[in-house]
Amino acid sequence: MKVGFIGTGSMGGLLIDAFLSSGGLLAGDVIASNRSRQKLDRLAQLHPGITLAENNRETAAGSDIVFLCVKPLEFKALTDEIGDCLGSGQIVVSITSPVQIHHLERVLPSKIAKIIPSITHSVFSGTSLCVLGSRLDDHDRELLLGLMSHIGNPVEISESHTRISSDFSSCGPAFLSLFLERWIEAAAAATGIDRRLAGILAGEMLLGTGRLLTEGEFTPGELQERVAVPGGITAEALSLLRYSLDGVFERLIDTTHRKYDEDLAKLDALFGQSGQASE
Ligand SMILES: NC(=O)c1ccc[n+]([C@@H]2O[C@H](COP(=O)([O-])OP(=O)(O)OC[C@H]3O[C@@H](n4cnc5c(N)ncnc54)[C@H](OP(=O)(O)O)[C@@H]3O)[C@@H](O)[C@H]2O)c1
Repeated sequence: MKVGFIGTGSMGGLLIDAFLSSGGLLAGDVIASNRSRQKLDRLAQLHPGITLAENNRETAAGSDIVFLCVKPLEFKALTDEIGDCLGSGQIVVSITSPVQIHHLERVLPSKIAKIIPSITHSVFSGTSLCVLGSRLDDHDRELLLGLMSHIGNPVEISESHTRISSDFSSCGPAFLSLFLERWIEAAAAATGIDRRLAGILAGEMLLGTGRLLTEGEFTPGELQERVAVPGGITAEALSLLRYSLDGVFERLIDTTHRKYDEDLAKLDALFGQSGQASE
């Protein structure tokens, strides 16, 4: 099976690295193209044996599954470029949340899926959010979920929950890292603790907390209750945090969804025009 990657930037490159180092794909299975050559050459040095295509059309034509790893507003030009190289037996996967299944089904003859990956796949962890279009059958579903299971935990979601799910699985590592960064900075400033040591304590704590939530059958509320002794230090600090975080997550969700809606409106305009032309 040949798996293509168009766009080998941060996430396209990470997916190739993760699939190859997990054994999910062999170098001979991978074909890739990118707008600029430098990133492709770096990949080829890291992973001898992968095929570097001359252009996106060659990647599209030569792949059974092709991951489109470009930014949302770059999708329309890309689908215009590769559309006539694709057939109904191939699977095209978008990795970006605002591009809708119907946008791609309108302009491409292939089976369409949306899979939102996460930086956590570089350590074979985290969830990939899978939305499968109507043209995929059970075999395609097994193929895609099986492939993604090499680098993380694939979860099927409804397309209408792509944004909110991505807030957790894909943006979440950045959000929690900001929280920890601020905490470590404050700890170093207040007590002189070595930042590197505080970083290790924070990372190990986050890893263990994640395992308690996924394997230990705790809910976030139960964990707070279990750790905080009434009248104790944790309970007092939790009260402060509850007060300080009031409204923060509502505003966070509003922010991610506002940006998503802006991108979606632009994509509707781009794909709507081409949809009318092709109907
Ligand atoms: N980063 C994450 O954690 C993450 C997680 C989930 C989903 N995503 C989604 O993944 C998508 C890509 O994000 P990213 O962080 O990987 O961005 P990025 O680092 O900017 O990578 C995009 C890549 O696409 C290439 N490209 C652009 N237009 C192209 C074209 N027409 N043909 C071939 N290659 C082209 C760019 O080439 P150049 O070398 O010329 O710039 C660049 O290497 C975004 O839509 C993002 O929402 C990202």
